[in-house]
Amino acid sequence: MRILLAGATGVIGRRLVPLLVADGHHLTALTRRPDRLPLLRAAGAHPVVADVLDADAVAAAVHDAAPDVVVHQLTDLGSGDPAANAEVRVTGTRHLVDAALAAGTRRIVAQSIAWAYAGGGAPADEDAPLDLDAPEPRSTSVRGIAALEAAVREAPEWVVLRYGMFYGPDTWFTADGLRAADARAGRLPADGDVTSFLHVDDAAAAAVAALSWPSGAVNVCDDEPAAARDWVPRFCEAVGAPPPGPAAGTARRPWARGADNRRAREERGWTPRHHSWRTGFALTAGAR
Ligand SMILES: NC(=O)c1ccc[n+]([C@@H]2O[C@H](COP(=O)([O-])OP(=O)(O)OC[C@H]3O[C@@H](n4cnc5c(N)ncnc54)[C@H](OP(=O)(O)O)[C@@H]3O)[C@@H](O)[C@H]2O)c1
Repeated sequence: MRILLAGATGVIGRRLVPLLVADGHHLTALTRRPDRLPLLRAAGAHPVVADVLDADAVAAAVHDAAPDVVVHQLTDLGSGDPAANAEVRVTGTRHLVDAALAAGTRRIVAQSIAWAYAGGGAPADEDAPLDLDAPEPRSTSVRGIAALEAAVREAPEWVVLRYGMFYGPDTWFTADGLRAADARAGRLPADGDVTSFLHVDDAAAAAVAALSWPSGAVNVCDDEPAAARDWVPRFCEAVGAPPPGPAAGTARRPWARGADNRRAREERGWTPRHHSWRTGFALTAGAR
């Protein structure tokens, strides 16, 4: 197939490029940065420089690539600015979808998140509504996700990958990542909030599988949604941080409920290789 990958140099894109090339696809890889072209070429992709916030540049790149599938693995989290990330999700996705529709692309596979659901009592399945009434700063993030997903649904075939919280090499949840720094500074509360995690290799594998999944949104997470009081001590141990202090409480925010991966497992036949953060953290976060 001809595939255009937006976000080819990100934490998932870097893993996805070799998988797609190895499967024999003709891969066009998007980046804003000319200095990243040699790396992408060496990996077997056909790189093109374009900023997704520039509608004309995206239209030209997608037109020239003539892809059967657009894979959207874009985020803008490097600066830690949620507004920049939402801009890429809202405006960048709009440009990408418009360009794909104009080029006759049939399928779009896009990265979303599994923690944008409204509050509830159990891990959320894909039918749970998004948390559109959330107050700021969460609102910016949820509304960005809602706009991204709505645009992607305009494609004739579409898959929204609602990824769990990434851990593993190059993520915030590794020995030299942001959350390890938080753990060392005592800034990771071991409270009742529930998170569903996902190893980055499993995220990349799911994106490959989604090239042939039926249209729909799918929670792509490991099998063990976990309260912070359970995972924070394990994470601290894995990254060599002191154990967390006692949490102020064990209550959780209603939306911090984790995500149910049964659709991925039972209807799409996808299984995470890293079934649980419980073993995954120790393997990947630099623990001895
Ligand atoms: N589900 C999750 O938990 C989740 C999801 C995503 C990220 N994260 C965290 O965020 C951290 C940073 O993510 P990341 O390493 O993937 O980096 P990032 O800075 O978020 O960039 C991701 C990709 O988007 C591209 N991109 C961003 N803005 C663009 C634009 N305007 N036009 C074209 N391309 C654009 C980047 O390409 P160029 O820079 O090459 O142009 C890159 O390929 C990770 O370490 C991870 O822990 C977590």
